[in-house]
Amino acid sequence: MARAIDRHRRGLDRDTLYFPESDPEEEACKAAAAYLGGGPLENIALTDSTTMGLGLLYAGLRLKRGDEVLTTEHDFYATHEALRLRAVRDGIVVRKVRLYDDSATASGPEMVSRLRAAVTDRTRVVAVTWVHSGTGVRLPISEIAGALAERSRGRDEADRILLCVDAVHGMGAESSTPVELGCDFFVSGTHKWLFGPRGTGVIWGRSEAWPHVDPTIPSFSHEAMSAWRNGHPPQGPAAVLATPGGFHSFENRWALAEAFAFHRAIGPARIAARTREQASRLKDGLSRLRHVRLHTPRSAELSSGLVCCSVDGTHPGEVAARLHEDHRIVASVTPYREPYLRFGPSIVTRPEEVDALVRAMASLR
Ligand SMILES: Cc1ncc(COP(=O)(O)O)c(C=O)c1O
Repeated sequence: MARAIDRHRRGLDRDTLYFPESDPEEEACKAAAAYLGGGPLENIALTDSTTMGLGLLYAGLRLKRGDEVLTTEHDFYATHEALRLRAVRDGIVVRKVRLYDDSATASGPEMVSRLRAAVTDRTRVVAVTWVHSGTGVRLPISEIAGALAERSRGRDEADRILLCVDAVHGMGAESSTPVELGCDFFVSGTHKWLFGPRGTGVIWGRSEAWPHVDPTIPSFSHEAMSAWRNGHPPQGPAAVLATPGGFHSFENRWALAEAFAFHRAIGPARIAARTREQASRLKDGLSRLRHVRLHTPRSAELSSGLVCCSVDGTHPGEVAARLHEDHRIVASVTPYREPYLRFGPSIVTRPEEVDALVRAMASLR
C-alpha cells in the first residue's frame, strides 16, 4: 500500500493529468465491496474519514421536524455533534440512552434491553458505535438489529427504524460484515484497524436504505456531472451520489484497494482471532496488577482490540507520557469526560510486546 501511495504521488507530481489505467476510485469501491459485501455502486460511498461519513449520513438522512434519533451516552463526539447540528438545523429530536453503568461488567442482553426500552413510536434512526472508543465495549449489533426489526414490524417501509453504526474500531479488527451485523449503514475510516491510507473512509449502506439519504456535497460522478450539463438533477445510484466530489488526496484514496486486498489475503477471521488473542493477553496481564483497573470487559463477546484501563492515583495522561518516555510504548488517553488509558494491540503487535507493556505497567508502582 505504501508503495502504491508513493507510485500515485510521484505520478501526480510529475503530471497533473496523471490517471492510472484502471479507474482507481472504482477499484477502491470494488475492493471495499469485496471486503464488506454488496456491490461497489449500490452499497459503497467513499469518504475522507469516519467523521466525514457520519457527518454526511446524519446531515443527509431524510428526517422531518419531530422525528427522533436515538443514540447512546457512549458514542464519540463525531456522532453526537453531527446529530446536534442536525437537530439545530431541522428540529429533529435526539435522545441518548445509557447502555451500561460500569463498562467492565457490561452485559449484552442488558444493553439490548435498555436500548429497546428507549425506542418510541417516533424513533426513526438508532445511531450507535460498534466498539466504544471510551471503554472498549463492543455492542451486540446483530441482537440490536433483531430488536429494532421487531419494533419496526407493521410500520411502512419509509418509517422503518434505520440502524446506523460507527464501525471504525470494529472494521479490520472484527470479521463480521455489515450484512451479518444487520445494520443499515456502516461508517468507518480506513486508517485505523484496516491500516489503510490516511484520509480515506467508507460508508456502506444497504441498497434499500440508501434512498433515505440525500447527498450533501456534490458528487463528481460522470452521471451527476452530465446531468448538470444537461440541466437536470443527477440520477444514479444513491451511494455514488453520496460520495463527495472535489479534489481529494488521490494518492491515498487510490491506494485504498491495496489495504482491503491485504486484509482479504490474510483473512478477516484470522485477523479477528489474532487481535482478540493479543487483547486477551493484555487484559489477563493487566488484571493481575493491583494498581490497575480494567474498564474493558474481559469477555471476547463484549470487546474487541481496544483495551482501556486506569492506574490508581495517576492521571492517564501522565501514565501515557511515562510509558512513552521510559518504554517507547505508545498509549492514548480517551477523549471523553472520564479519560482512560487506551491501548490497541493488533496484528502488527507481537505477544512479546504485549508482555513488555504489562511489565511496564507493573513497574509504575
Ligand atoms: C468511535 C470513533 N468514531 C470516530 C472517530 C473519528 O475517526 P476519523 O479520524 O476517521 O474521523 C474516532 C476517533 O478518532 C472514534 O473513536
